[in-house]
Amino acid sequence: MKKIAVIPGDGIGTEVTNEAKKAILATNAKKPLDIELVDMEYGAEKFLKTGVTMPEEQYDDFRKNYSAILMGAFGDPRVPGNEHAKDILLGTRFKLDLYVNFRPVKLLDEKFCPLKNKTVNDIDFTVFRENTEGVYVGIGGIFKKGTPDEVAVQEEINTRKGVERIIRYAFEFAKKNNLKKVAMADKSNAMQFGHNLWNRCFFEVAKEFSGIQAKHFYIDALAMMMIRNPEEFEVIVTNNLFGDIITDMGAQLQGGMGLAASGNINPAGVSMFEPVHGSAPDIAGRNIANPVAAILTAEMLLRHLGYLQNADMIERAVRVAIQKNKLTRELGGDLGTKECGDFICSVIKSDN
Ligand SMILES: NC(=O)c1ccc[n+]([C@@H]2O[C@H](COP(=O)([O-])OP(=O)(O)OC[C@H]3O[C@@H](n4cnc5c(N)ncnc54)[C@H](O)[C@@H]3O)[C@@H](O)[C@H]2O)c1
Repeated sequence: MKKIAVIPGDGIGTEVTNEAKKAILATNAKKPLDIELVDMEYGAEKFLKTGVTMPEEQYDDFRKNYSAILMGAFGDPRVPGNEHAKDILLGTRFKLDLYVNFRPVKLLDEKFCPLKNKTVNDIDFTVFRENTEGVYVGIGGIFKKGTPDEVAVQEEINTRKGVERIIRYAFEFAKKNNLKKVAMADKSNAMQFGHNLWNRCFFEVAKEFSGIQAKHFYIDALAMMMIRNPEEFEVIVTNNLFGDIITDMGAQLQGGMGLAASGNINPAGVSMFEPVHGSAPDIAGRNIANPVAAILTAEMLLRHLGYLQNADMIERAVRVAIQKNKLTRELGGDLGTKECGDFICSVIKSDN
């Protein structure tokens, strides 16, 4: 039996993760899965009550006893500094060495695309965001805080090992999926040390993958191209900060945060899956959040663990929901979170 930790977190995280779990269990009824879903209550509520974010021994437990983690989202207005969210999310990414942030950008229906004259064939690429280094490592400090002479330093860390492994992962993904183009975005014209490392590494690794075109972009030019000619891209690899930003742009190309799924992968260990969106306090508790991103995240988790038929069932059911407009309001439907999840589960249950 494979154990999957389920950590819904805060706000709409709890609402959409519930629907993701229902979808996994619906596929189980058609094709039994040898998995056990284990609910965990880490999040703002637990932090406010106990001061615990995620204890060190929990990471050991994940490493030893779990095959994957399904997360919702973290962030609660009652914790204005977001300490628990940083600890749980960044802690999991760093401590489990989830160095691959895998974010597909795939338009499922033309009606969702904010760009003119773009079809589902034009928006279909994958972003690999480096997930354990960059400016997110929290190295730096503030000097003379609160005075007119205040100085704030925030370091960006790029290691040879860290840069090389994410770039190699992106090329290997392209090779495995018969894709022909890998783009890398940095800002090496202005950031002449760290991003020079990215640049050299990229072209060195590219030499191992003949037949795949390696193209370098400065991040500003890539952002422009993502809007003007998204069809140019098959695989994009970039650093932690740039990847964070361009995948929110990517989510909009697909139709919004309610549709974007992601994986945080350690190819040699336990991996974590979460929707791209946050806890959306503005709509939390109202049964209006779109559960599709979380449901597609569950699909990604099942695919990662090799349950391809169960994953395919979820994908087909989401496509039916889109085609029949059985969606939440922000995508033009009239269903609530739970009702949209129920519809997707009913399609899974009638899947042949
Ligand atoms: N991975 C994470 O846990 C994660 C990621 C991003 C933000 N956050 C946290 O979430 C909180 C809110 O952040 P934010 O507002 O910048 O980002 P957000 O993604 O929560 O919301 C951005 C906008 O998108 C909408 N939205 C998001 N998900 C949606 C869904 N499933 N269905 C319909 N609409 C949806 C929200 O209503 C909001 O208007 C903050 O505390 C932030 O730190 C957490």
